[in-house]
Amino acid sequence: MTLSDKIKDVIRDIPDFPKPGIVFKDITPILSNSKLVTEVVDWFVEKGKQDNIDVVVGVESRGFLFGLLIAEKMGVPFVPVRKQGKLPYKTIAHSYDLEYGSATVEIHEDALKPGQKVMIHDDLLATGGTAMAAAELVKQIGGKVCNYTFLIELGFLNGKENIGLDNNEAIHSIITY
Ligand code: PRP
Ligand code: MG
Repeated sequence: MTLSDKIKDVIRDIPDFPKPGIVFKDITPILSNSKLVTEVVDWFVEKGKQDNIDVVVGVESRGFLFGLLIAEKMGVPFVPVRKQGKLPYKTIAHSYDLEYGSATVEIHEDALKPGQKVMIHDDLLATGGTAMAAAELVKQIGGKVCNYTFLIELGFLNGKENIGLDNNEAIHSIITY
C-alpha cells in the first residue's frame, strides 16, 4: 500500500465543518498512528533533501504538527508563521484576502539568515492564500522559497496555479483530491 493510500484510508471527511457546505479533511487519525507519522515525516524529509532546503517554515496551526518533526529529522531550524498578535518579538506582517474578509500572518523579523533556502509546510493547500502569504513573509526577511509541502492538496481550488511557482520552486503533496 502506498503512503498516499494509507493516508486516504485514515483521513476522515467531516461534512459541514466548520461551515455548511464544506467537507473538512480531518487529519487527526494520522497523529494517533506513530508508524504512519514516521512515514509521513520521512516522505517530507526526502523532499527537503531533494530540494536542498536549510529551514522549515510551518504555518499555524496545523502546519506546526509535522513542520517541527520534519525540521528535527533533517537537523535544520524550524520557524513558525503565526496568526496576528501571537509572536512576541519584532515581526513582519502580511495580510491576504479570504472568501469573506481578510487574514494576517506574521514572522519574526530575524527568523531567517539572508539567502536561506526554505520549505514552506502546511497540512493542506486549498486556494493557496495562506501559502502565498507565508512565502511573502519569507521573501521579505531575506529567505528563498525552495519548495512547498502539504499532506493534502485540493486540486479543484487551483492553489498551485494561484501560487504561480517561480523557477526553482516546487510543490509536493502526498495526496491530491
Ligand atoms: C487551513 C489549512 C491551511 C489553510 C489552507 O487553515 O490548515 O493552513 O486553511 O487554505 P488556503 O490554501 O485557502 O489558504 P486554517 O486557516 O483553517 O487554520 P488552522 O490551521 O489554524 O486550523
Ligand atoms: Mg492552517
